[in-house]
Amino acid sequence: MPRHFLRDDDLTADEQIEILDLADRLKKQPYGDALAGPKAVAVIFEKNSTRTRFSFEVGIAQLGGHAVVVDGRTMQIGREETIEDTARVLSRYVDAVVWRTFAQARIDAFASAASVPVVNALTDEFHPCQILADLQTIRQYKGRLAGLTLTYFGDAANNMAHSLLLGGVTAGLHVRVAAPEGFHPAPWVLDAVRARAAETGGSAEVFTDPHAAADGADVVTTDAWTSMGQENDGRDRVAPFRPYQVNEGLLARTGTDTIVLHDLPAHRGWEITDEVIDGPSSAVWDEAENRLHAQKALLAWLLETGR
Ligand code: CP
Ligand code: NVA
Repeated sequence: MPRHFLRDDDLTADEQIEILDLADRLKKQPYGDALAGPKAVAVIFEKNSTRTRFSFEVGIAQLGGHAVVVDGRTMQIGREETIEDTARVLSRYVDAVVWRTFAQARIDAFASAASVPVVNALTDEFHPCQILADLQTIRQYKGRLAGLTLTYFGDAANNMAHSLLLGGVTAGLHVRVAAPEGFHPAPWVLDAVRARAAETGGSAEVFTDPHAAADGADVVTTDAWTSMGQENDGRDRVAPFRPYQVNEGLLARTGTDTIVLHDLPAHRGWEITDEVIDGPSSAVWDEAENRLHAQKALLAWLLETGR
């Protein structure tokens, strides 16, 4: 059975550190032969992307591999071919599959029929590649992970909140999410988060009061109030979130030397202000860069002989 990376807890705490260490080495030494041959990687998108698309294609080339980047909406998948049959066929052509899709159940079904590693490049429920880059960035600025407090503001029921919780506690972070009622994390995700936190010494806490959640935070982060696919879900995705905007007032309530992350794309003036994203606490451009290094490390690790 190949190893997959479908959600953040598919890596143990030790494996996560191993990949982050490799990501740091690849940041210093970008070119290598981990995917020489070339090994082929299918990178498939059913939703828009800038960072994920470019960082995977460039990263695969830098490791000597070959990326086949496809808009999933042009494939037979979803038209008349099942997800499982697609996985069986692609497994005969490529050495790994990276997929951005809608429901997590779709990528779970794909992975169950694939005989090569499958990587989640964002689903409605999780965005685990982004969290590897976020952790690399936090370590770059703070020199450590375990014991730090990270607070996420905004839609805590979305993929980023779920993955920050699950990937963050894996790294031993104290993860807080601050969100209005009705936008709290899925209970089944919190169950997995608490199980993982019990192993690592990390913790997870859900707040409705944004000020209490900001108190003493080492890292502050946010994400779109409307995720891809939610544009017409009939919910008010502006008014409930206004108190959770990451602005200078909120930042003033955090610890000293707090860094600000945002997975991007940013909706300036909505979930984050210009002053903050362009200000001295912002680490978002390093965070975006680290997608490249973290994903290269992940692919090299997954494709290592015998894994
Ligand atoms: N953060 C992120 O995944 O960006 P893209 O949607 O541009 O890939
Ligand atoms: N939550 C956002 C993340 C985009 C990278 C979305 O799913 O649209």
